[in-house]
Amino acid sequence: MDENKAQIDKKIQKLRDIQEKALLGGGTKRIADQHAKGKLTARERLDLLLDKGTFREIDRLVHHHSSEFGLNKTVFFGDGVVTGSGDINGQKVFVFSQDFTVLGGSLAAEHGRKICKVMEMAMKNGLPVIGLNDSGGARVQEGVISLGAYADIFLLNTLASGVVPQISIVMGPCAGGAVYSPAITDFIIMVRKTSYMFVTGPKVVKTVTHEDLTSDELGGADVHASKSGVAHFVTDNDMEAIEIVKRLMSYIPANNAEDPPFIPNDDPPDRIDEDLNYIIPANPNQPYDMKEVIKKIADKGEFLEVHKEWAQNIIVGFIRLGGRSIGVIANQPAILAGVLDINSSRKAGRFIRFCDAFNIPLLIYEDVPGFMPGADQEWGGIIANGAKLLYAFCEATVPKVTVITRKAYGGAYDVMNSKHVRGDLNFAWPTSELAVMGAKGAVEIIFKKDIDSAEDAEKREAELINEFNDKFAHPYIAASYGYIDEVIEPKYTRQRLIESFKLLENKVDRNPTRKHGNIPL
Ligand code: HXC
Repeated sequence: MDENKAQIDKKIQKLRDIQEKALLGGGTKRIADQHAKGKLTARERLDLLLDKGTFREIDRLVHHHSSEFGLNKTVFFGDGVVTGSGDINGQKVFVFSQDFTVLGGSLAAEHGRKICKVMEMAMKNGLPVIGLNDSGGARVQEGVISLGAYADIFLLNTLASGVVPQISIVMGPCAGGAVYSPAITDFIIMVRKTSYMFVTGPKVVKTVTHEDLTSDELGGADVHASKSGVAHFVTDNDMEAIEIVKRLMSYIPANNAEDPPFIPNDDPPDRIDEDLNYIIPANPNQPYDMKEVIKKIADKGEFLEVHKEWAQNIIVGFIRLGGRSIGVIANQPAILAGVLDINSSRKAGRFIRFCDAFNIPLLIYEDVPGFMPGADQEWGGIIANGAKLLYAFCEATVPKVTVITRKAYGGAYDVMNSKHVRGDLNFAWPTSELAVMGAKGAVEIIFKKDIDSAEDAEKREAELINEFNDKFAHPYIAASYGYIDEVIEPKYTRQRLIESFKLLENKVDRNPTRKHGNIPL
């Protein structure tokens, strides 16, 4: 009996020793190096991300089987990535967290297989995938096998798109083709100073284009948050990045067959905000901050803004209304007068498609003078890019509610979830102006001769502008055709929206059966 116990104890001890070794990744020295760079380790990150005690690791004992270029001397359990499942705010998710302390988190056959395994499990079980990226890229020693492993991941990213939410946090290097896995996922969060993403690094860039840039200047978090739009969120450290994931998860469902989380709160649904009646300036050319409108109406004034630093002339993000998760798309009159341009169309188009894929209703606040004129925009493809936004609105079948606060001019009126592109309920404030263009532009076109021949051209133009405004700069013609369902007093907007989204909660609408549409990419 004693001998049996001793044998079993020995086996258990062996397991404990292996586990202990595996938990140390690349070892204490490399962990200290990781900390010195201001980064947490792969396991520390998962501890913060997942609800306490819920992480269940798989494939902890996987390692590479290569001996090329001395790799047989650097065999580590886990092969540079920690994978498994756990809970975020009680919601089950699959996770992978690259371990930079093991061969620089570089990706090769086994590392890639581990990531694919959790992604396949996530798809089968309808659960989100959260990927924490911190990697030197393709493991050089394993050559083309590493490239193949990346391609396996890209394929699964694509197949999972629109089926389960995929969120990437980039917390270290992410270079070369490796960038394309996060790029296919739904959201990218980058950490300032410690993360960067680029297809070709500073050395190659210098040789080819003679531009002399640091990694941060070329592909740091701020660059991708404000210039390229690759990053949806930017944070100062790993902890903040993890907090963003938790907030994001509170708005999105586990998969495309489920509804988003309903989280009731004590903000009264019939709360009236008198200030809203006076938020629009009397002068139509004076800006105001649409974020104030969004926050005043949302439950508890909370708004999780996506792409805050990029294409700021449009605002996108998540709010709750009466506990329901809602995706907001809003023109921002405070930036470029809220005009639609290439980047704002891309930004909003992608956000709409995410919400539509995951059953998140859409709320549109509209104050748009039209599309941005200019050679840069035309040559840069405002036609194809503006069409992305139009296509996204047309194709979306989730409940879609529009509130026109002020301008709804020209093609932009059609695009911004008008009744004609299947807006379910379209409201207008009394301050709204639905017209082909603003009064000044319109008068210059249709009354040019009248103005030119007048004794006092300036006076005549002012008269005609007033006349035009009286006749057209209001919502009542549109309302007379049913293009607007109701003109509402701004202070009641919260109440009307909460009622509307409740009314629409069982909405069913379908697009024609087809392999897939052909969005103008
Ligand atoms: C193998 C790698 C590695 C890699 C880093 N390491 N990158 N091992 N393959 N790609 C190892 C290092 O040898 C070192 O091992 C440890 O990771 C830490 O690396 P350091 O260089 O000491 O760290 P640091 O100074 O922080 O620099 C990090 C780095 C640098 C900037 C990422 O390591 C680097 O430039 N690595 C190569 C990046 C690269 O070119 N990757 C291929 C990109 S192309 P020890 O044993 O000393 O701890 C690509 C294609 C994907 O990824 C294609 C998909 C289609």
